[in-house]
Amino acid sequence: MAKAPKPLIAGNWKMNGLQRDLGELRKLIAWMRGASPSCDVMICPPATLISDVKSLVTGSRIKVGAQTCHAQDSGAHTGDISAPMLKNAGASAVIAGHSERRADHKESDKQVRAQAEAIHRAGLTAIICVGETAGERKAGKALKIVSAQLKGSLPSGATARNTVIAYEPVWAIGTGLTATPEDVARVHRHIRTRLGALMPAGEGGKVRILYGGSVKPENAATLMGVANVDGALVGGASLKAKDFQGIISAYV
Ligand code: PGA
Repeated sequence: MAKAPKPLIAGNWKMNGLQRDLGELRKLIAWMRGASPSCDVMICPPATLISDVKSLVTGSRIKVGAQTCHAQDSGAHTGDISAPMLKNAGASAVIAGHSERRADHKESDKQVRAQAEAIHRAGLTAIICVGETAGERKAGKALKIVSAQLKGSLPSGATARNTVIAYEPVWAIGTGLTATPEDVARVHRHIRTRLGALMPAGEGGKVRILYGGSVKPENAATLMGVANVDGALVGGASLKAKDFQGIISAYV
């Protein structure tokens, strides 16, 4: 069996955070100095804060990611931000295809794949999100939906080094509801198998598969203990240092 990948706990601040809120990050940095988690830790702030966050975390073990990008490297796309720009600001990873982007901006699998290709071209890690809605789950289609999203969103050049998958059931995001450990085990095992078929030999077993959706200090250790769960993508609970530390502590 392949060695388990090093886990990653990534905080997605979404459209939250002003410069005056960076005190929480300072607290996290100070805590990280004393703690020695056996996982990687990443913060994905809004694009406006990437360079501030990068300056603050330099010298710590915290990495910086972005939340989305345009599929082109530059051009006439008012208001958009490209992967090379995010890299230039200090990001080493970019989330692609978060369900809020898929819903709010009608991003298709094809667009998500084009973004992931742009992220790879820039030499960054793509964190590709997949997950079923409540209705799809009720209809017994969760695995089918996740398979289709993976197939449609994963670029051909994806490797375990440049790609992370986040399984985020849409009904669990920001709702306080979490999938049961049995549900998570079933979907993550399925994703692992699908990655084995979609990626070059040996890569699928090494890709980090994160769980996301109402991860909190109270449920983190249980969820992170599930087979094929290699960390978490955390929304709300990443905004407060104490909560995020409580989640990282699943790996302390
Ligand atoms: P949540 O968000 O932790 O607030 O549920 C997770 C996500 O959308 O990544």
